[in-house]
Amino acid sequence: MLVLGVETSCDETGVALYDSNKGLLADALFSQIDLHRIYGGVVPELASRDHIKRLIPLLNQVLADSGCTKTDIDAVAYTAGPGLVGALLVGASFAKAFAFALDIPTIGVHHMEGHLLAPMLEKDPPRFPFVGLLVSGGHTQLIKVTEIGCYELLGESVDDAAGEAFDKTAKLLGLNYPGGPEIAKLALQGRENIFKFPRPMVDRPGLMFSFSGLKTAALNTWQNNKCHAETSQQLKADIAFAFQQAVVDTLTIKCRRALLDTGLSQLVIAGGVSSNKALRESLENMVSEFQGHVYYARPEFCTDNGAMIAYAGCQRLLVGQHNDLAIETRARWPMQELPALK
Ligand code: KG4
Ligand code: ZN
Repeated sequence: MLVLGVETSCDETGVALYDSNKGLLADALFSQIDLHRIYGGVVPELASRDHIKRLIPLLNQVLADSGCTKTDIDAVAYTAGPGLVGALLVGASFAKAFAFALDIPTIGVHHMEGHLLAPMLEKDPPRFPFVGLLVSGGHTQLIKVTEIGCYELLGESVDDAAGEAFDKTAKLLGLNYPGGPEIAKLALQGRENIFKFPRPMVDRPGLMFSFSGLKTAALNTWQNNKCHAETSQQLKADIAFAFQQAVVDTLTIKCRRALLDTGLSQLVIAGGVSSNKALRESLENMVSEFQGHVYYARPEFCTDNGAMIAYAGCQRLLVGQHNDLAIETRARWPMQELPALK
């Protein structure tokens, strides 16, 4: 089955072709980062308008790259939520119109299920069951994954998501959007043991997270120390280091706890923050205690992309799941509401 994947939930337009027998045939992405950078974050209306411009050229690109034609496509998988409603509606309308014209089925994919399953596109894919850590701009969740569609929420953030905390801390340090990669880069020049930020909620039992206090810790440190202009670059790097270390330690402590609680030893990390090298290293060290393994996608499939949507949609289409032609999107959509495959 050849599936066209369409991702438009936020600030990346992603289109891909996934074949259930041959694997990923083509993947094309347009990132709107330059469009939103001057505003310091995503402007929803600009995002929607840009998705409209990009979808057809990206579709033509994946057709050319794969050597397929439109009529080879058996079904369309599109991101139905969660995300920015206007942006989601662009992808949903495109998918339904395309499917109507070709008389093929569509499936609305949950964006976070797409992220969670993205490591399945790698050479050494994870096997079920595993603990999933979803860390993106909008979500921080620990999930026990028994199989596709069987998701037990173990814990989540009570306030900012991990990626959001990176983005907000970067903004107050005067760094560019998106802040995650900027902080990670700057942290390489940061020194250990200059500042120590709290590890929120690690003293309490359970698997909930809270990241909003960390940006305040970073802001206070910046304001209390920034008097010397000539040392401000090093100061920013030291803050970036301390901030990243606090997020990484907190996520590692909770992942360890989730493995202990579930008795599992395989960990899958997904979403934009899962491309963070310090996080990957820390989690890899931690799972060695369980003789386990950490699985993650290549960096371009950690952030938003069409390939993960094509893959996740394909798994559901293969067992006969699909939607009708109504254009439906969901800004909020708990993953636990998804049906199992069987
Ligand atoms: O998964 P994603 O592309 O979009 C959402 O579904 O939200 O995640 C984007 C988030 C942003 O907050 C970005 O700052 C963060 O992922 N991110 C990173 C890194 N690369 C992207 N955070 C930390 N370190 C990185 N290397
Ligand atoms: Zn995402």
